[in-house]
Amino acid sequence: MYSEKVMDHFMNPRNVGEIPDASGVGTVGNAKCGDIMKVYLQIEDGIIKDAKFKTFGCGAAVATSSMATELVIGKTIKEALLITNKSVMEALDGLPPVKVHCSLLAEESLQAALWDYAKKNNIVIEGLQEPKEDIDDDHHHNLNDDEDESELLNA
Ligand code: FES
Repeated sequence: MYSEKVMDHFMNPRNVGEIPDASGVGTVGNAKCGDIMKVYLQIEDGIIKDAKFKTFGCGAAVATSSMATELVIGKTIKEALLITNKSVMEALDGLPPVKVHCSLLAEESLQAALWDYAKKNNIVIEGLQEPKEDIDDDHHHNLNDDEDESELLNA
């Protein structure tokens, strides 16, 4: 059911952890399954020098966040915007259809971290949309960061 690459990134996820004083942090949840992803980016001179993630979620969510962080390290902000759930899935040799929504968490949290970076630095990143805090549109949480997480965990 899962490709070897998905299994590998699930069993040995890359870039797990957090970056203290990260340039941007993005947290996105899916209220339907209760899974949460948090992405940390270290950005210097417009280049993503480091990326780390923490996922409270299913195996596909772990594998897609692992791959998304691998893909984004070394990229410019513009290039990072081109990383979509589709490109992450392609890099993993696909996901079963019922798991496609899990890959959206990776894309959205990456963009949320870029949004946070732009906000902190008072810049506009062309083509970047305000991120959703919850990829399940029926439930919208208007909380920030840590509160957001505990609220989602209790959801
Ligand atoms: Fe929720 Fe995979 S089941 S992210």
